[in-house]
Amino acid sequence: MSGIVPTTTTLADVYPADADEVAFQQQRWTKLVDTFAATHGHKPTFVSRSPGRVNIIGEHIDYSLFSVLPMAIAADVLLAVSTPSPSSSSSGDDSFKITISNVQTDKFPGAEFTVSPSATEIEIDRSHHHWSNYFKAGLKGAMGLLRQKHGDEFRFKSMNVVMDGNVPPGGGLSSSAAFVTASALAVLVANGETEVDKVKLTELAIVSEREVGVNSGGMDQSASVLSERDAALFVSFTPSLSARPVRFPQTTPELVFLIAQTFVRSAKFDTAPYRYNLRVVECTLAAAILNADCNNSSPLPRDSSPLGISLHGFFDSYFTTTNPSLSNLTLQEKFTKAISLTEESLTQEKGYTLDEIATHLHLPVSDLQKTYLTKFPAKPPQNLFLLRQRALHVFRESLRVLRFMHLLEQNPPSSSSDIGPSLGRLLTDSQSSCRDDFDCSCAEIDSLVDIGRRAGAYGSRLTGAGWGGCTIHLVPADRVEQVKKAFDDEYYSKIEMSEEERASRVVVTKPGPGSCVFWVSEEGKV
Ligand code: ATP
Ligand code: GLA
Ligand code: MG
Repeated sequence: MSGIVPTTTTLADVYPADADEVAFQQQRWTKLVDTFAATHGHKPTFVSRSPGRVNIIGEHIDYSLFSVLPMAIAADVLLAVSTPSPSSSSSGDDSFKITISNVQTDKFPGAEFTVSPSATEIEIDRSHHHWSNYFKAGLKGAMGLLRQKHGDEFRFKSMNVVMDGNVPPGGGLSSSAAFVTASALAVLVANGETEVDKVKLTELAIVSEREVGVNSGGMDQSASVLSERDAALFVSFTPSLSARPVRFPQTTPELVFLIAQTFVRSAKFDTAPYRYNLRVVECTLAAAILNADCNNSSPLPRDSSPLGISLHGFFDSYFTTTNPSLSNLTLQEKFTKAISLTEESLTQEKGYTLDEIATHLHLPVSDLQKTYLTKFPAKPPQNLFLLRQRALHVFRESLRVLRFMHLLEQNPPSSSSDIGPSLGRLLTDSQSSCRDDFDCSCAEIDSLVDIGRRAGAYGSRLTGAGWGGCTIHLVPADRVEQVKKAFDDEYYSKIEMSEEERASRVVVTKPGPGSCVFWVSEEGKV
C-alpha cells in the first residue's frame, strides 16, 4: 500500500459514487473556496483532504504495535491553501507566517503565527488546547521531513489556510488524525513536494500528533492516509509500518456496518492522564514486567511504540530470542501462550503500585517516573496500575483480529450463512474485553451495543478510544431498518440532540479512499 498521495481535480474520485453525496460535497467545497476568497482576496491553490476512520476490530492494541483493522469514512478534514507571495506576508527576513481560520468561526477562532527560519522546533503549548495545535503538529512533522530532504537552510513558504472539518470532534472517528495528516500534507505540497510518499506522511503524522499531548498509536493516521475505496485496511506496525486493503466477502444478505453515535464527547486530551495516556503506560509497564519474568531479564528492544518498549517487543523476544524452539508455533498458538504467560506472571488483580513495579524491575521509582510518566503524566486511580487486565486485553484482542482476518480471507470463503454471526461474535467479545479488562466503555456505549444486538446486529462494539464517541454494528442488510428503529426508540428518543446531531446519529458506512490533494481550477471551481 505504498505509493504517492493521489492528486485529483474531480470530487467523484473522493466520495462514494452517489449523485446526492457528490452534489452535497460540491456545495460544501464551493462554500469553502468562497470563504477562502472572501478572507484572503484570492482563491486557494489546492485543498488537502484527509478522512476520519472507523475501527472495525483491534482496539487499544496499536500502541503495543499489534495489527488493527480500521477503514476510512466519508467524513473528512479539508484544508484550502494558498502560498501568498513574500511581499504580502514576510517581515523582511526569512521567517514565514501561517494564517489559519475555520469555516466554523464561532467554535474555532482563527490564529496567526510567524516562525523564524532558525527555529529548530515549532512551539506547541499543550497547556492551552487550541485547535490550531493540530495544524502545528502536522507542520512540525512536515518541516522535519523537508529539512531532512533539503538541508537546514531550506526556506519555508508562508501559508493561508482555511479549514472545513465534518468529522465530529471527540466522536471516536479520529477528527484529530484527519486534521494532522491533512496539515502535514498541506505543508509538504505548499513547499513544492509534488509527489508525497504515503508511508512517510503517515509515519511523520503518527509521531507529530503526540505533540498535542495524547500519546497515541498509529492506527488513525494509517487509516486516514493509506485507505483505499471499498476496502478496510489491515495495518501492521512491525518490522515497519505497512498496510494492505481487505475486502469483505459478498454475502446474501449483504454485510453492512452501522455507526451509531452516543453523543458523549470523549475529551481525550483533558482526560489523558487517567484514561488514554495511562493505558499506554500500563501496557508498557506490563511489557517490562513480563519481560523481566519470562525473558531472562534481557533488555527489551527499543521500538516505534509511544514509550519505546511494547508488549509486541516482549512477544517477539519471547518467541524468537528466549525460546527459539517455539518460533514455529502458529501466531494463534503464540497469542494463546502469551495469554497464559500473562496470567501466570501478572497475578495481582487489584493492580500494582509504582513501588511494587520498581522493586520487580530492580529500578529506582525515580527512573520509572522519568522514563514513563514525565512527558505524558499519568495518574492511576488509587495509585494502582492494572497491568494484568490491560495485557490480557491486548493479547486477546490481537488474537481476535487474527481470527477476524482468517474468516475474511479463508479460501474458499466462508458460506454466507455463517460468516456474519462468526464475525459478529468477535466484535461482541471485543466489546466485553474493552468494557471489563480495558475499562474504556461507558454506560451509553453499553446501552447502544445492547440495543443493536437485541435488534438483530451480528455484533456490536465501541470504536476508537472509547469512553464515549461512537459504536459500530455489523448488521445483515435486511435488518438495518429494524436496528435503526430500535436505536431511535430506545436511545435517541430519550436524549437531547441538535438538528445536526439528529441528521448524523446513525450512518451506514462504506469504506472510502484516504488522503488526496485537490487542485483548484484557475477560476476557483471545484
Ligand atoms: P478519537 O481520537 O477518539 O477517534 P477525535 O480524534 O475526534 O476522536 P480528539 O483526538 O480528542 O478526538 O481530537 C479532537 C480535536 O481535534 C478537537 O478538540 C479540535 O481541537 C480538533 N478538531 C477536530 N475537528 C475540528 C474542526 N472541524 N475544526 C477545528 N478543529 C477540529
Ligand atoms: C485513539 C488513538 C489510536 C488508538 C485508538 C484505540 O483513536 O488515537 O491510536 O489507540 O484510540 O484503539
Ligand atoms: Mg483523535
